[in-house]
Amino acid sequence: MSVREEFDEWATSGRDKGMEERHWHTAKHALARMPVEPGDTVLDLGCGSGYAGRALRDTNDAGRVYGLDGAPEMAHNAADYTEDDRVGYVVGDFGSLPFADDSIDHVWSMEAFYYASDPHHTLEEIARVLRSGGTFYCAVNYYEENVHSHEWQEFIDIEMTRWDREQYREAFRRAGLHVAEQDNIPDREITIPSEAEFPTDEWDTRDAMVERYREYGTLLTVGVAP
Ligand SMILES: C[S@@+](CC[C@H](N)C(=O)[O-])C[C@H]1O[C@@H](n2cnc3c(N)ncnc32)[C@H](O)[C@@H]1O
Repeated sequence: MSVREEFDEWATSGRDKGMEERHWHTAKHALARMPVEPGDTVLDLGCGSGYAGRALRDTNDAGRVYGLDGAPEMAHNAADYTEDDRVGYVVGDFGSLPFADDSIDHVWSMEAFYYASDPHHTLEEIARVLRSGGTFYCAVNYYEENVHSHEWQEFIDIEMTRWDREQYREAFRRAGLHVAEQDNIPDREITIPSEAEFPTDEWDTRDAMVERYREYGTLLTVGVAP
């Protein structure tokens, strides 16, 4: 199944907003760390509903925000959620970013990078479009140390890349990005039921759910263009 087929269906069934609500728990903390200055140009890779770019316009006065998504219905929904003419959504693929060399100040991506068919090439593309000193904030919940995420591949037909923390850092360096930071951002907002309510439909034990959200949370890796 293609990215378009898979995620167009998510968008038309309203899952874009559902993702936004869940991802916001940790995304907002990572977004708050981005050194976006007034006037900067920001690119959101795999933007989904497009909430991250809109937040950076509101909080940091980013000058121009582009959200790129491979699913036209996602980009269409995202455009419908704003009237801000400094925010634009484009349909495109992580394999070939439709931006000039050295044209973007910061790149953001939440829960999307690992869908790239060639993640090393995507990192080279990110390094190409970033201006010197620009950053790539890459946030993922699906990664090797988060054992609770491993089964997600069974539910989706697109091949997902499951790197560990070190593989992320190595891949960033191989693409020419300095690694400035790597961190786990816990999700402190999701409600975790009391011990008596386990097992639930999704979780065998409370400890497993606590580990997934409060301990592993979202893995953030930050790259800086030299
Ligand atoms: C799990 S959603 C995350 C959306 C959003 N970033 C969020 O935090 O809610 C992943 C998004 O990445 C997009 N995507 C996946 N692979 C892609 C690719 N190769 N090129 C462009 N977009 C892609 C999907 O269409 C989808 O909207």
